[in-house]
Amino acid sequence: MEGFRIRGGQPLQGRVRISGAKNAVLALAPATLLAPGVHRLRNVPRLTDVFTMVELLEGLGCSCHLEEGELHIDTSTVRSLRAPQELVSRMRASFYILGPLLARYGQAEVSLPGGCSFGPRPVDLHLQGLQRLGAQIELQDGYVRARASRLRGTTIELRFPSVGATGNILMAAVLAEGETLLRNAACEPEIVQLGEYLCAMGASIEGLGSPTLHIRGVEQLRPAAVEVIPDRIEAATFLIAAAATQGEVTITHARADHLQTVLEHLQQVGCRLTTTESTITVHMDTLPQPSTTVTAPYPGFPTDLQAQWTAFMLQAPGISRITDTIYPNRFKHIPELQRMGARIELIGNTAIVYGGYPLIGTRVVSSDLRASAALLIAGLIAQGETEVVGIHHIERGYEAIERKLQQLGASIERICVGP
Ligand code: EPZ
Repeated sequence: MEGFRIRGGQPLQGRVRISGAKNAVLALAPATLLAPGVHRLRNVPRLTDVFTMVELLEGLGCSCHLEEGELHIDTSTVRSLRAPQELVSRMRASFYILGPLLARYGQAEVSLPGGCSFGPRPVDLHLQGLQRLGAQIELQDGYVRARASRLRGTTIELRFPSVGATGNILMAAVLAEGETLLRNAACEPEIVQLGEYLCAMGASIEGLGSPTLHIRGVEQLRPAAVEVIPDRIEAATFLIAAAATQGEVTITHARADHLQTVLEHLQQVGCRLTTTESTITVHMDTLPQPSTTVTAPYPGFPTDLQAQWTAFMLQAPGISRITDTIYPNRFKHIPELQRMGARIELIGNTAIVYGGYPLIGTRVVSSDLRASAALLIAGLIAQGETEVVGIHHIERGYEAIERKLQQLGASIERICVGP
């Protein structure tokens, strides 16, 4: 197994380029199934999850080619409509193929995704939305079997603005007969880009970025090209790491408008920020102030930054509170941080951080993608050396992270930590 060895205490300094958004690619790639032909996605990061998505599409019969950040997907020869358990359990976003396969072929068989390290990951909102569009859904042997001779537009109200359910329903509704009104839809930038891409393919969608989407079904769609938006979670992870190490870092190819709430939090705890159309610079030369943070659907504070922010608040003398309202169990990073000397109390879905105490480097174990990022940040600020084991988790969502951190002056190296 591989790990990273980090020597703490180096302020991050310099410039780093943000990669394309993982969670945009994982929605855009399945959307190509809606139209036969060659689709071109640019600014695609080299990530394990992207490779898994390619494997999934090739398993359906598509041919894919990823070179120098450009992913070509040819969906002319789809010959299977089944996503196996092995792939879906490896990457939940595989479930995104349900809507497009149903819309284009009238049937699909997709394994239920199961849970992950931060709890159950239900898909009831996806299935209820597709049933409202006229799909017959059967659950058998851990698989969803969906059929629909013709999807018909209707009004759907989501109980929760689920990102995945919004994406699946949107990809089904664009080829349905008639109009669909989707209320309480997710507003995440990745969903907005998915909608824009579907429009580039010939779909008719109004209200993107708002909680109410109005879709007019069309007969067919055509292949299109798209430039993937910057990864706002990667961007914020670097901003938080820079602030935690009391450094000065400029991130490029970033979108400040996708990070308003996070930038406000950084300013509230004492960071100085300057932004341009495609860069964000953070400067921090003191310890942060403690803060109270509650995650929420976009444009609120992202759950995908909750662990990284917790690591940062370990530096803030006083008491900080971080509540995750999206995933109440997304706290596997806390026991590992406690092994470094962190003083954190977990009460329900709130982490109470008693900040201002030293962190001591030791060997810690990753449990999931964003928890790994939190452990990296802790290693960057700890005294001595920290070994983060299980870095396959982090490579799912952060492209070339050790190279980017080295570029900013971090002392980080890849190590082998046994079988
Ligand atoms: C997307 O997951 C992201 N993944 C997640 O990022 C992110 O944490 C999440 O949105 C929330 O922002 C991708 O985009 C590939 P949801 P998704 O459906 O779509 C409940 C990362 O680190 N829910 O918005 O699965 C669910 O249990 C990953 O990059 C239902 O109850 O998230 C959760 O509490 C991790 N029923 C809440 O909604 C459903 O049918 C949010 O889930 C679906 C969801």
